[in-house]
Amino acid sequence: MPDDTNKTFLNSKKNMTLFICFLAALAGLLFGLDIGVIAGALPFIAKDFNITIHQQELIVGSMMFGAAIGAVSSGWISSHLGRKKSLMIGAILFVMGSIWSSITPNSEMLIIARLILGLAVGIASYTAPLYLSEIAPEKNRGSMISLYQLMITIGILTAYLSDTIFSNIGAWRWMLGIMTMPAIMLLIGVNFLPNSPRWLAAKGNFHDAKRILDRLRDTNEQSKRELDEIRESLKITQSGWYLFKSNSNFRRAVFLGIILQMVQQFTGMNVIMYYAPKIFEIANFTNTTQQMWGTVIVGLVNVLATFIAIKLVDQWGRKPTLVLGFLIMAIGMGILGTLLYIGIYSSYTKYFAIIMLLIFIIGFAISAGPLIWVLCSEIQPLKGRDFGITVSTTTNWIANMIVGATFLTMLNTLGNAITFWIYATLNIFFILITITVIPETKNVSLEHIERNLMAGKKLRDIGQE
Ligand code: BGC
Repeated sequence: MPDDTNKTFLNSKKNMTLFICFLAALAGLLFGLDIGVIAGALPFIAKDFNITIHQQELIVGSMMFGAAIGAVSSGWISSHLGRKKSLMIGAILFVMGSIWSSITPNSEMLIIARLILGLAVGIASYTAPLYLSEIAPEKNRGSMISLYQLMITIGILTAYLSDTIFSNIGAWRWMLGIMTMPAIMLLIGVNFLPNSPRWLAAKGNFHDAKRILDRLRDTNEQSKRELDEIRESLKITQSGWYLFKSNSNFRRAVFLGIILQMVQQFTGMNVIMYYAPKIFEIANFTNTTQQMWGTVIVGLVNVLATFIAIKLVDQWGRKPTLVLGFLIMAIGMGILGTLLYIGIYSSYTKYFAIIMLLIFIIGFAISAGPLIWVLCSEIQPLKGRDFGITVSTTTNWIANMIVGATFLTMLNTLGNAITFWIYATLNIFFILITITVIPETKNVSLEHIERNLMAGKKLRDIGQE
């Protein structure tokens, strides 16, 4: 083949991989949309259906509950039916849930619709990063997982924007219904995705696995080498549950995954994601338009700071970035609590409070947001990967649900200031956890981490030479 043609050919292969990754990351966009949309819609829903705080928390929390169930089941679905079918099931549930939530006659039906959306989000949050890591070439794997986080934040921002636009006319049904469009896009897009070569190989279909790798990798030698590696790794059969019962070192990795995801959620990030307009109201921004545009700024800062994280994720190292992030979050939440304690009266304190809120967001977006997902996919030994990631993803959603379902009650029973101080204290505590338990995995091969873990090294040392 002449040189030029060869180049275009390679480029188009690269573009195809990118396109496939983009389609799969659309699942992240929907994850974000569904997390973000409720913040702006909730006040209007509460007014229309005349519901209590507890019912509002149920509407927020039901999606997380569904997501926890979705994450638990997706380990089984994606290993039996494949990553592609699993994403397809997720997409169908996204479409159903979006339509249902927009035409719901009452709050009970809305809770069920949000549960269905939750199932979709849970399946997507397990399958999409897994699929991405199996499709992406080795050298791009880390940034692909961060790309997924970026899509989540873009989804949240888009939801905030749509909420703001529709809030002028209080059209919460449109806010929820508009989600049907990207859900249909995902449903159509998934049909163009190839099956994961790794999954095909695990099912004994090496012929198709090779065919797909040939389409995605630059050269046939590369795809052959990758298939050989997959063949090699398949010699170890994936027996997560048995390994969990029999091997205390693997149990430590599962335990670390649980801690990591709990830490991510108990930073309090989702308190802001779900209740941002409410927080603006507490900070004395009484006008709904101000609250809604303030929320859009929160979403925008989240996206921009995640961009920074993608650039820095492999340079700074996991531990220092996490420590810095928790410190920033503790300062943001702590000062915000103090301002609420003193009382926010002047416009100076009002804006100072919002700056603190944004500082908190930056702290999360550069650290715990992407890094926890990256770490969770790095620490599990190959043999127990499916099991370990199922457990950590499910923990993410259970902890997420607890945070979403308790915030308003905490505000009402403990008061605004104490609620924010509690989250500030937790972030300080997470600095200690980072120093004592979390390993540094930068520039270390996954095999090396696995060897150290299985040799019984302390968790915080499994990334060391
Ligand atoms: C978390 C979500 C959160 C989002 C915010 C993700 O990493 O898992 O719970 O809403 O980041 O950007």
